[in-house]
Amino acid sequence: MLPLLLLLLFSLLSFHPPAAVSARCTTITTAKTFQKCMTLPSQQASIAWTFHPHNATLEIVFFGTFISPSGWVGWGINPSSPEMTWTRALIAFPDPNSGRLVLLPYILDPTVKLQKNSLVSSPLDINLLTSSATLYGGRLATIHDGADIQIHATLKLVPNKTKIHHVWNRGLYVQGYSPTIHPTTVNDLSSVTTIDLLSGTESTKHSNIQTLKLAHGIINGIAWGILLPVGVVISRYLRHIQSLGPAWFYAHAGVQLSAFFLGTAGFSIGLRLGDLSPGVVYGLHRKLGFAAFCLASLQTLALLFRPKTTNKYRKYWKSYHHFVGYTCVVMGVVNVFQGFEVMGEGRSYAKLGYCLCLSTLIGVCVALEVNSWVVFCRKAKEDKLRREGVLGTPVKQIGSSHN
Ligand code: HEM
Ligand SMILES: *[C@@H]1O[C@H](CO)[C@@H](O)[C@H](O)[C@H]1NC(C)=O
Ligand SMILES: *[C@@H]1O[C@H](CO)[C@@H](O)[C@H](O)[C@H]1NC(C)=O
Repeated sequence: MLPLLLLLLFSLLSFHPPAAVSARCTTITTAKTFQKCMTLPSQQASIAWTFHPHNATLEIVFFGTFISPSGWVGWGINPSSPEMTWTRALIAFPDPNSGRLVLLPYILDPTVKLQKNSLVSSPLDINLLTSSATLYGGRLATIHDGADIQIHATLKLVPNKTKIHHVWNRGLYVQGYSPTIHPTTVNDLSSVTTIDLLSGTESTKHSNIQTLKLAHGIINGIAWGILLPVGVVISRYLRHIQSLGPAWFYAHAGVQLSAFFLGTAGFSIGLRLGDLSPGVVYGLHRKLGFAAFCLASLQTLALLFRPKTTNKYRKYWKSYHHFVGYTCVVMGVVNVFQGFEVMGEGRSYAKLGYCLCLSTLIGVCVALEVNSWVVFCRKAKEDKLRREGVLGTPVKQIGSSHN
């Protein structure tokens, strides 16, 4: 089971999106020559751009195609995430009054996607220096099904942020100056991509990030949030059950080692997720993650230097092992909760489920703790009685045989 899971993980990790085919794109337009270009994954669209890192200025042209004589073609960037909502878009369509091509700015707020409000032009809150649209490719340059269009824009970007989410689409109809919904086939909904302007490579696909996030969440939730605490519970309470003998140790070591390997896999997915979204930094989650991972590694390493039971340093090793272990578990569990916040799942059923698991575990601990106290007190009392000579022969051990 575990090897299978790990195999699945590594295949996930080693999955790289196919390099964009750049055969069809061009850097040359009648107005300008650009440095880089890229074919976009849907709607036969492409872009070409020149990026000046020293002043964070991006000159870009988007190549798109109309699908109807009264339709629209839009391109934009989303400052926060690779999706339609909150994209700052430039949309080109024939002016309802003059029939000439117009290019207007739009902010795609959430109500648009929910189709509560129609899309109305509004000034962009990003630093757009220039924008223009040109039809090209003969046929009297009229808008028709299949007409090619270029949307030019010059933008000043946030310094040092070179991974940009591009969003584009096209629709059949514009009502007044409000473009109406685009087709919603799978192809038309995959018109989002994240591109690193400097290297000209497509960053990982949206869906890939989602899969990684899910894997990261589930694996780390299980490893750090459940297995590790269970391992501690095993060592704390099962070791006193004499009938089990050394079995508790194998159970404890087995659970902790699998938690560690699983946790390492989850941790590396986390690192990769961090690389994929450089704009987003979750400080506390990251730091706790690193700390918990270091402690867990220390703990695993310390196994190699474990003194024999007879060694006089054994008790120091033991307190060290307990201290690092408890700290690690606490950090792990706290970080699982941090993770829920980071993923925006602060009030989700997943979190509720995890809370239920954790409280069950805590309930079990409390019960076992009370039980061992009862056993301890009973023993102490018996010992006392025995010492006072009230009880002659040792009684059969009460607690340990049935807890
Ligand atoms: C004009 C009004 C618009 C409406 C009513 C609208 C509506 C929608 C709806 C309902 C979806 C989700 C469909 C689904 O998941 O089944 C969607 C997705 C999408 N839309 Fe729009 N849209 C509009 C304009 C635009 C514009 C102008 C662009 C791009 C410039 C765009 C780009 C996208 C993209 C890339 C997706 C897929 C990714 C995502 O769901 O975030 N849309 N749209
Ligand atoms: C940025 O620098 C380039 C040359 O490197 C220049 O052509 C462009 O005008 C500059 N843009 C701004 C907004 O200063
Ligand atoms: C951007 O990076 C350069 C060097 O890589 C650095 O000198 C500059 O301070 C950074 N700017 C910002 C706003 O972080």
